[in-house]
Amino acid sequence: MKLTDLRGILQYIPQFREKTFILAIDGAIVTNDNFATLLLDVALLWSLNIRIVLVHGASAQIRSLAEEQQITASDFDGAGVTDAPTLKLALTAANRLTHEILEGLSANDLRAACTNVIIAHPLGIIQGVDHLFTGKVERVDTEFLQTLLTQGVVPVIPPLGFDGDGRTYRVNSDGVAVAVAEQLKAIKLIYVTSADGLVYRGQLIRQMPVAELSTLLRDDSAGFAPEMLSKAQHAAAACHAGVPRAHVVNGGLEEGLLGEVFSNHGLGTLIHANEYEDIRPAKKKDVRAIQSLIQLGVEADELLKRSRTMIEKNLDDYFIFEIDKNPIACIALHVYPEQNKGELACLYVSSLHENQGIGRKLIQFVENRARRLGLSQLLALSTQAFTYFQSKGNFVEGRPDDLPPGRRERYEQSGRNSKILVKHLR
Ligand SMILES: CC(C)(COP(=O)(O)OP(=O)(O)OC[C@H]1O[C@@H](n2cnc3c(N)ncnc32)[C@H](O)[C@@H]1OP(=O)(O)O)[C@@H](O)C(=O)NCCC(=O)NCCS
Repeated sequence: MKLTDLRGILQYIPQFREKTFILAIDGAIVTNDNFATLLLDVALLWSLNIRIVLVHGASAQIRSLAEEQQITASDFDGAGVTDAPTLKLALTAANRLTHEILEGLSANDLRAACTNVIIAHPLGIIQGVDHLFTGKVERVDTEFLQTLLTQGVVPVIPPLGFDGDGRTYRVNSDGVAVAVAEQLKAIKLIYVTSADGLVYRGQLIRQMPVAELSTLLRDDSAGFAPEMLSKAQHAAAACHAGVPRAHVVNGGLEEGLLGEVFSNHGLGTLIHANEYEDIRPAKKKDVRAIQSLIQLGVEADELLKRSRTMIEKNLDDYFIFEIDKNPIACIALHVYPEQNKGELACLYVSSLHENQGIGRKLIQFVENRARRLGLSQLLALSTQAFTYFQSKGNFVEGRPDDLPPGRRERYEQSGRNSKILVKHLR
């Protein structure tokens, strides 16, 4: 590891300190070789004052127990019907797993406790089918969880729910994780799975706003692999319930968890709650970040070199796109009030985040802003992305005459010979 990597990691600490992360671990991961490393990472996050709650599933273990005991389980993941023998399997599997997790946490000097915080009632009869011992989360005993967290104890939550009469129900761990994340106001819900992330129609989703994920789920849920559909649905549910970020990571990868938490370009999938929340006006302290962000673009002659003074002079025109408070893209809107025109400028998306629709989102943002300001035309100058503006932003090629007089003079003096692109706003 380079020391500069450490700088990258440390910048996250202030925003995560005293905040809660929910780690929802699939049962299959507990028996993975990497599980010890995963718990080491949990200990590391805990040492940074990040409050961790562990929720675990048990379907893989229920499956193997059922085979071992030659019982036909009525359901594996707590979403279907749980008959009495399956509940028994679930209890055995969940208890063993919880114990293994407690052992692993002890090995990392962490105090932990298995809890009965999920208050559940029977899921009931749905379309004529009695779901027997499958439970529905009624509420989460957050007071107890908060007490444990404040006392420095890691709560471990099995996929079991309890009612006031001492009955136990099998509940789905993906759903439990959402309920706990929502009620504890967690800032992250991280599903630790055996897959690299959410895969839609064969392609790994790196990062997606929840609105887009919900549309995919509504229009083409078959595009998700069946075993990951529940993660996609629950990640979306978490974001809709107010959890800002839901992640799906591969728990079998050595850097899966830390890579996702401490880098702007995690290794798995990130679903975020509000897409425009990521765009904000630039502040004085961002000038250096803008300069270093566009550096490569300037070197490749894609963008004009901008001095600190140039940016500071028009700072109000600049906007930053952030992921976890790190600038990863920028854009500017310069207004020419006399001509009632605006110029979209300094659009740059860091290469690690290309092809995720961020460029388009920034163009849309600036376009909306220009419309709100009542401008009649949006201009853009580009040397190497003119077809991008044409095909993705619906700009058309313009002429030097389209530029306001002062701007045209600078254009001619620069010798960059950029293409001029125009979009009529009304
Ligand atoms: C051009 C740029 C802003 C695109 O950002 P992005 O977030 O990667 O783009 P999006 O995710 O919105 O769109 C990706 C699509 O645009 C295409 N695209 C990306 N760069 C392109 C370019 N220079 N020319 C033409 N098409 C381009 C991709 O192939 C992809 O196409 P597809 O959707 O058909 O597969 C980014 O590559 C960049 O910062 N370039 C350097 C700076 C620059 O030229 N800025 C414009 C001058 S102001």
